[in-house]
Amino acid sequence: MKSIVILISGRGSNMEAIVRAAIPGARIAAVISNRPNAGGLAFAAAQGIATAVVDHTAYADRAAFDAALAEAIDSHAPDLVVLAGFMRVLTADFVRHYEGRLINIHPSLLPSFTGLHTHKRALEAGVRVHGTTVHFVTAELDCGPIIIQAVVPVMTGDTEESLTARVLAQEHRIFPQAVRWIVEDRVCIDGNIARVSGAGEPGVMISPPPESV
Ligand code: GRF
Repeated sequence: MKSIVILISGRGSNMEAIVRAAIPGARIAAVISNRPNAGGLAFAAAQGIATAVVDHTAYADRAAFDAALAEAIDSHAPDLVVLAGFMRVLTADFVRHYEGRLINIHPSLLPSFTGLHTHKRALEAGVRVHGTTVHFVTAELDCGPIIIQAVVPVMTGDTEESLTARVLAQEHRIFPQAVRWIVEDRVCIDGNIARVSGAGEPGVMISPPPESV
């Protein structure tokens, strides 16, 4: 049984998708938030999952916060740590401590649109396709080995809200898929490439055609 700790900062819909996937061989040991009022905490608690808050505003600097966060995480001895809408930049020491077992979901087709406000920036750039990426976390922000991506069309008349909703629906598909592959020991890191073993696993999901989106 693999033990998983999920970190959130807010709504937690991606965490919820992973919990609801009930991945065989995986146990969600805890959900930890850096914000006391994160909506996702209530869902996790209602599922009987241990929850904790490590409030970043209570710490003098990033290093102190990351040390407290790591202590909370390590008390569950996780095999995998999942950043699911966790909105804090982590120190290099923290990232190194979890090397190879720390994954994140980023709402763009990396390496395009690292950082914040990805949907707005995609609309402004006039790209025809957009999407989301699950990747291993490395010290460089939003740059680690890519495990899976989902592609969605950008449609005429899209607003930031409509594009966000289209991408989010795909996030809820690919994040549990990435976790499942890792739990099944099918993902290995080869330099900056994450290789998924097993037939018929292209590591990409295409959203339904525009008419039905
Ligand atoms: C997701 O879009 C994720 O890609 C981004 O933050 C959002 C979190 O949403 N990092 P939720 O809290 O999982 O609902």
